[in-house]
Amino acid sequence: MRYITFALAKGRLALQTLELLESIGIRCDEIKDKSSRKLIFVNEDLKLRFFLAKASDVPTYVEYGAADIGVVGKDTILEEGRKMYEVLDLRLGKCRMCVAGPSKAKELLEQGGIIRVATKYPNIAKDYFYNKKHQTVEIIKLNGSIELAPIVGLAEVIVDIVETGSTLRENGLCVLEDICNISARMVVNEVSMKMQHERITHIINNIKNVLTREDV
Ligand code: PRP
Repeated sequence: MRYITFALAKGRLALQTLELLESIGIRCDEIKDKSSRKLIFVNEDLKLRFFLAKASDVPTYVEYGAADIGVVGKDTILEEGRKMYEVLDLRLGKCRMCVAGPSKAKELLEQGGIIRVATKYPNIAKDYFYNKKHQTVEIIKLNGSIELAPIVGLAEVIVDIVETGSTLRENGLCVLEDICNISARMVVNEVSMKMQHERITHIINNIKNVLTREDV
């Protein structure tokens, strides 16, 4: 039997995913040891392998089949646009993708003129402004602390993730438009889904059952 490999997005989401996997009897205690510099972890009994990757790289590993299964946010899936199957909403890491800025930017947005939009998600921003709103904007790619951009005058608005809303609030910004809801998804390589169909659907169904039980 060959290994089934999981790519997990590093950070809080990986820990929550491991908890979910534990609830269906899949354990990998070694991966939780923060002092370890190991990159790949194995559960020999179940013939499973796990590695942690930067979130934006998870879809790449899955599309190329270096990982059979990935767990990553819908934001990253939309931004990366990789070819793979999205099989399950894990309902973890729930947040929203929004256009945000100072409340006075609402008018600018409504006027439909060219504004500057700072974001870590240029593809999501392009799709929203060009294809959904048919509005031409200038998109400025940043890599973090996006809320700074309208404060220091780099952009009029931002496209970013809002979870509790406290980063916006504490910086005098607010949500101006909602783009979509975000949560963690399980994704599967297209070939693995065929070749390892039984093992992979067994994992998916077990997780589905746990999630449905939580609903009751
Ligand atoms: C994310 C996001 C917002 C913040 C939203 O940033 O980009 O800045 O969290 O959360 P809140 O609504 O609960 O305040 P992250 O902490 O991932 O870091 P980054 O700013 O470097 O992207």
